[in-house]
Amino acid sequence: MDKASVCLKNIRKSYGNLPVVHGIDLDIREGEFVVFVGPSGCGKSTLLRMIAGLEDVTDGEISIKGRDVTDLDPSDRGIVMVFQSYALYPHMSVRENLAFGLKMARTDAAEISRRVDQAAAILKIDQLLERRPGQLSGGQRQRVAIGRAIVRKPDVFLFDEPLSNLDAELRVSMRIEIARLHRELGNTMIYVTHDQTEAMTLADKIVVLRNGKVEQSGSPREIYENPSNVFVAGFIGSPRMNFLKAVGQAGRSFKIAGNEFDGLGLPSQLLEGTEFMMGIRPEHIAIAADGARAISARVEFFEYLGGTRYIYCSLEDGQNLVVEQRSGKDIEAGSLIALDFPAEHRLYFDSDAAGRRVVNQHQ
Ligand SMILES: Nc1ncnc2c1ncn2[C@@H]1O[C@H](COP(=O)(O)OP(=O)(O)OP(=O)(O)O)[C@@H](O)[C@H]1O
Ligand SMILES: [Mg+2]
Repeated sequence: MDKASVCLKNIRKSYGNLPVVHGIDLDIREGEFVVFVGPSGCGKSTLLRMIAGLEDVTDGEISIKGRDVTDLDPSDRGIVMVFQSYALYPHMSVRENLAFGLKMARTDAAEISRRVDQAAAILKIDQLLERRPGQLSGGQRQRVAIGRAIVRKPDVFLFDEPLSNLDAELRVSMRIEIARLHRELGNTMIYVTHDQTEAMTLADKIVVLRNGKVEQSGSPREIYENPSNVFVAGFIGSPRMNFLKAVGQAGRSFKIAGNEFDGLGLPSQLLEGTEFMMGIRPEHIAIAADGARAISARVEFFEYLGGTRYIYCSLEDGQNLVVEQRSGKDIEAGSLIALDFPAEHRLYFDSDAAGRRVVNQHQ
């Protein structure tokens, strides 16, 4: 087992006496692509800036490649950071922008030229080296900003929402470029975003943050299939998971909006009279022929998006849910449909504020 590339031990941050990061522990493997994701203000940038050394830690220890860097300057940490605003020097050519950091570090001219050419080839900007930033598109500028990071040959790349200034289409293509870059360079990368699609597609490991704490970390598949609470389950996935109020019945069944469901796979702690939340993703709800497991729902809106359709429905007790379908007829608002919640796709959560996942103790 090689040394963790980046290791955070009990990292805390307060601004004045306002704590914003509350003791984060994290091990990032050499070469791993880690994405910090979470709602605005949860501490993603603060955590990244502490790793970069742009922000002091209030408490805790940061090491990179086994070396304690907690008190080192950013330039001594073997990291580079790529920001949302790329801040290129407007009066310099792309080549000069790429070379600037290395020149400042008094790198040998031949070496600079070699690294600039290499980075330009990787990013496919070799045709643009003599242009100025004003003569580039947004996506090309962002490539130059990433190029400036590549030429430094860092151990670790840090990205803070690097694509959020780009339009939707460009974001998708740059996302694929960054994934390719990671595959080619093999460096450790830490990437901050509030976009759960970027998190799912780029990450080896997703770290879901809320209010300065880690809610869960794991592979995209682990997070998606085994979320540990309502927050994570609702944050990852679009449209978000449906959460329906349920109550346990005698004989290990349960009811939602007065409809009885078989308790296949229902955790044994959810006894008769226990209130809980049943979670089910929109793509896992089936439109059923009337049957024992079906529940009747009224269609509020129908959205046709080509490859998928979203059916927004309400249950008899007023609870709302979204169904995603890949095919089928258009459905008119106001009509009644029967829904099936397949047992293998149901997740169960406590109905309190923490909303912890309830799993069968005997599993
Ligand atoms: N210089 C500062 N002084 C005081 N509070 C700050 C300062 N910088 C950040 N904060 C607070 O720390 C918390 C975390 O901020 P941070 O910028 O890390 O959030 P974020 O997760 O990156 O959010 P976003 O998605 O909006 O970029 C926020 O509540 C913010 O108001
Ligand atoms: Mg931020």
